[in-house]
Amino acid sequence: MRAARFQTYGPPAALVVEDVPRPEPRPGEALVRVRAAGVNAFDWKLRAGYLKDFMPLELPHIPGLDVAGTVEQIGAGVSDFAPGDAVFGRGTGTYAEYATASVATLARKPDAITFDQAATLAVGGVTAWAGLFDTARLEPGQRLLVHGGAGGVGSLAVQLGRWKGVHVIATTSTVNVEHVRSLGADEVIDYTKTNFEDAVGEVDVVLDTVGGEVTDRSWSVLKPGGILVVVASGPDPEKAAAHGVRTSGVRAPEVTRPVLEELAKLIESGSLAAQVGQVFSLSEAAQAHAASETGHGRGRIVLRVSS
Ligand SMILES: NC(=O)c1ccc[n+]([C@@H]2O[C@H](COP(=O)([O-])OP(=O)(O)OC[C@H]3O[C@@H](n4cnc5c(N)ncnc54)[C@H](OP(=O)(O)O)[C@@H]3O)[C@@H](O)[C@H]2O)c1
Repeated sequence: MRAARFQTYGPPAALVVEDVPRPEPRPGEALVRVRAAGVNAFDWKLRAGYLKDFMPLELPHIPGLDVAGTVEQIGAGVSDFAPGDAVFGRGTGTYAEYATASVATLARKPDAITFDQAATLAVGGVTAWAGLFDTARLEPGQRLLVHGGAGGVGSLAVQLGRWKGVHVIATTSTVNVEHVRSLGADEVIDYTKTNFEDAVGEVDVVLDTVGGEVTDRSWSVLKPGGILVVVASGPDPEKAAAHGVRTSGVRAPEVTRPVLEELAKLIESGSLAAQVGQVFSLSEAAQAHAASETGHGRGRIVLRVSS
């Protein structure tokens, strides 16, 4: 099968499409014929070697977590999916024509969405869900600020906040302001023109998908006892204590079928729309990584592997 993989850590061009052996599903796994793979920032950070000290890889490595496709083969003990089922979720090495996935991290693809759309949902959706509902315990009527409201995580967080009945404020750049408003944000702040600290008032929850100085500037907008959920970097409990607020990180939350099924239900009811960003072919994986590395854009970048 064809797969995009890297032999050494390095720039986007380290990602090369090659013929590699097709994986075999182990017990509890499905082999998925990949139709589309979502491109996450994690994938390029891995390829660049930023994570090699605490997550050493056996090279060559095929990146890719988000997957949508059809079940090709099932491993021993799998009874909940059958060959031909259309699925989405989290797999292993999904920048390839076939990838394995634990069936616990797969769910049925809603009929209403394409494979490209389905490939945007698992990592971003589960991260937004974990941050807003498991960590911040968001309640209807609260005020939520989402940093990076146009991104792969943020665009789903804005919609989940809207669905939960909170007042959603989101930051984004000029070109994405109207788009983020269309996702259901009550207020959109163009970070290129306005300092969000001057515009948001007090909020109960900040979901920060940007990090760095944006995190540091966010303490002051929280109500006493409010929470800053940091997706893009590590939380700083000392700074939180100094501001009389709480903080927590979201670290690679487990993708589980129940949450994927909740996301699928919201898609089917029209409360959530998958956000496809730029679409590349598998042979353009290096370009897709270069685009992801910019840290700007709308929705989740997708590799369309087969049609
Ligand atoms: N902890 C975890 O488990 C976890 C899970 C998923 C992702 N992440 C991390 O979370 C971060 C975001 O992931 P993603 O997939 O959403 O990335 P993404 O799809 O690349 O989106 C990033 C977004 O940030 C926006 N942005 C950039 N600078 C900004 C600023 N100063 N203020 C407001 N918005 C700004 C960009 O919008 P514009 O184009 O409008 O600038 C873009 O839409 C990445 O660092 C990723 O590694 C962590």
